[in-house]
Amino acid sequence: MSAAPLSVGRRPPEPIKFAYWVPNVSGGLVISKTPQRTSWDIDYNRKLAQIAETSGFEYALTQIRFTAGYGAEFQHESVSFSHALLAATKELNVIAAILPGPWTPALVAKQVASISHFVGGRLAVNIVSGWFRGEFHAIGEPWLDHDERYRRSEEFIRVLRGVWSEEKFNFAGDFYRFHDYSLKPKPVSAPEIFQGGSSRAARDMAARVSDWYFTNGNTLEGVKAQVDDIRHKAAQNNHHVKIGVNAFAIVRETETEARKVLDEILTHADPDAVRAFHHEVQNAGNASPEREGNWAKSSFEDLVQYNDGFKTNLIGEPEQVARRIIELKRVGVDLVLLGFLHFQEEVEFFGRHVIPLVRALEAEAIADAAA
Ligand SMILES: Cc1cc2nc3c(=O)[nH]c(=O)nc-3n(C[C@H](O)[C@H](O)[C@H](O)COP(=O)(O)O)c2cc1C
Repeated sequence: MSAAPLSVGRRPPEPIKFAYWVPNVSGGLVISKTPQRTSWDIDYNRKLAQIAETSGFEYALTQIRFTAGYGAEFQHESVSFSHALLAATKELNVIAAILPGPWTPALVAKQVASISHFVGGRLAVNIVSGWFRGEFHAIGEPWLDHDERYRRSEEFIRVLRGVWSEEKFNFAGDFYRFHDYSLKPKPVSAPEIFQGGSSRAARDMAARVSDWYFTNGNTLEGVKAQVDDIRHKAAQNNHHVKIGVNAFAIVRETETEARKVLDEILTHADPDAVRAFHHEVQNAGNASPEREGNWAKSSFEDLVQYNDGFKTNLIGEPEQVARRIIELKRVGVDLVLLGFLHFQEEVEFFGRHVIPLVRALEAEAIADAAA
């Protein structure tokens, strides 16, 4: 009996990737009045993107919000903002949030294809399915039931892939229709498709069509349960989906200093804004039939960071944080999406003090596995 080839199952795992939330909305990433040296304007963000790409970050994620709310009074639009960041950088990939409803897939396919030519690829999309009914109401967009929103998003994603790759694209869906449509030019390379959410519908969509699944911050056990669930479902569909987890990083020289910063953020939380956000996202979180949506179980403290980023616990001194990132990788996470209090300084600090430790630990693990 011949032995199995040595290469089977022996490919070293890819290095874990780092992304940061683009602060293209005002107020930063926490609903707190604690002082923040983060700005939502384009000059600040161009410089931040340049710092990020030289600090080991591969991706930046822009957000879409059409209306004010919960501490985010001003918001720049995601596709134009992403384009500006791509034009100011050389290697960074920028992921633009896209909300089906306000956007049609024909428009997104066209916009992304053109930008892809201007900047040499590098533009990805994050298809978000909507959580804020008031926002849809304000701009006169019909608000669909939770699972219908995901059915529409899935068609949206299937259409994007088809339009970007097929010569004459035809599609007869419940939400979108295409007849012998030829997009010219096509993007220079296939744009990656991310999506957000935690609900059953969000996970099932990821397990069928998305390249990447982004989820809210969570404990290691919570993340593992989601990863196992999605990977299991994706395997049944012969699909591979990569997983990105949100975390609000507070890395300081000592753990005591880092915890003090967290205390300051929580002490200065804006209670009215957090409670209003809580009310809205609990509705959204409970809107899915199984009541397991993104924020279904979030506490007041969790919600001081919009996407439960404290729960992931990347709070401490550099080595502690690096080791926790390795634990996330061990349970199957491919990318960590990070928010910071003072973005420019902290992205730089993270790149200087945490990412090299993560790379060293990854190299150690490969050496151990080979020994
Ligand atoms: C990392 C991440 C980024 C997101 N970005 C946005 C965004 O920019 N705009 C938006 O309206 N929703 C955004 N969402 C919301 C989700 O796409 C989704 O609509 C929401 O989480 C509801 O999920 P649920 O189905 O689990 O309740 C984001 C979610 C995650 C996890």
